Amino acid sequence: RTVYLNGEYLPEAEAKVSVFDRGFVMGDAVYEVTSVLGGKILEFEGHMNRLARSMAELEMTCDLTRDEWVEIHRQLIARNNIDEGLIYLQVSRGNAGDRDFHYPPEGTPPTVVLYTQAKQNLANDPKAKTGIKVISLPDLRWHRRDIKTVQLLYPSMAKMAAEAQGKHDAWFVEDGFVTEGSSNNVYIVKDGKIITRQLSHDILHGITRASLLKYAAEAQMEIEERPFTIEEAQSADEAFFTSASAFVMPVVEIDNAAIGDGTPGRVAARLREIYLDESL
Ligand code: PDD
Repeated sequence: RTVYLNGEYLPEAEAKVSVFDRGFVMGDAVYEVTSVLGGKILEFEGHMNRLARSMAELEMTCDLTRDEWVEIHRQLIARNNIDEGLIYLQVSRGNAGDRDFHYPPEGTPPTVVLYTQAKQNLANDPKAKTGIKVISLPDLRWHRRDIKTVQLLYPSMAKMAAEAQGKHDAWFVEDGFVTEGSSNNVYIVKDGKIITRQLSHDILHGITRASLLKYAAEAQMEIEERPFTIEEAQSADEAFFTSASAFVMPVVEIDNAAIGDGTPGRVAARLREIYLDESL
């Protein structure tokens, strides 16, 4: 695989980052995941805008222009012959020399890494037909979840805990209400209405979420942005989540309780279809 590192395209084995890099030592880095379908990048503008916002919130700078970002994505897709897959992008605050809690001096170049991951069945994911099962866990993450940092230890622990129980993922709960999934935004459907938590610092502002709500509104579907509990989700007609890598994914069980009849719901299936149609 050819990867991008700080201005160069390198074989992956030659792409090396310093042991002093703050992404490595401090988790001082932000990232984006975009999907590629038919060789085309989905939601490029959305992901670039959120990257800029994450960096601004952390006072991180990077002098790549929009055209340069586009070019890097295009080069990686072409050089790695990606038809269907993901592009991982990470910007860290760079190499600070000795370990120091303080940010390095202004002008310290960030570390920019991008690589592709070829995937089959992103669009034709068999899980979209069967739905997935989730557990709930307390949301123990920090309180700026709107910034897409690489501090993903708790989401990793949550996915391991779900797997240990034979389930696929976890939904996080704070003050009695669901915040989001370990790596996705979550929704329930009741009497045809789509219910999802409103944007705040408590959740990541999903790019897929923004587009999906727009498409749902255009399709005259009713949307309510408010928090909901696990109990409300368990008694909903449907549940699903969205993310750049899963698009729209039905959830058929929460904490061992079947949602609806325990099979993927019609609204989720229709939204997945609409989302993929609009994106391709
Ligand atoms: N995760 N919430 C969290 C905590 C996330 O990590 C993600 C994305 C989302 C959905 O955002 P978007 O629709 O922009 O992908 C919500 C990515 C896919 C990941 O970490 O792999």
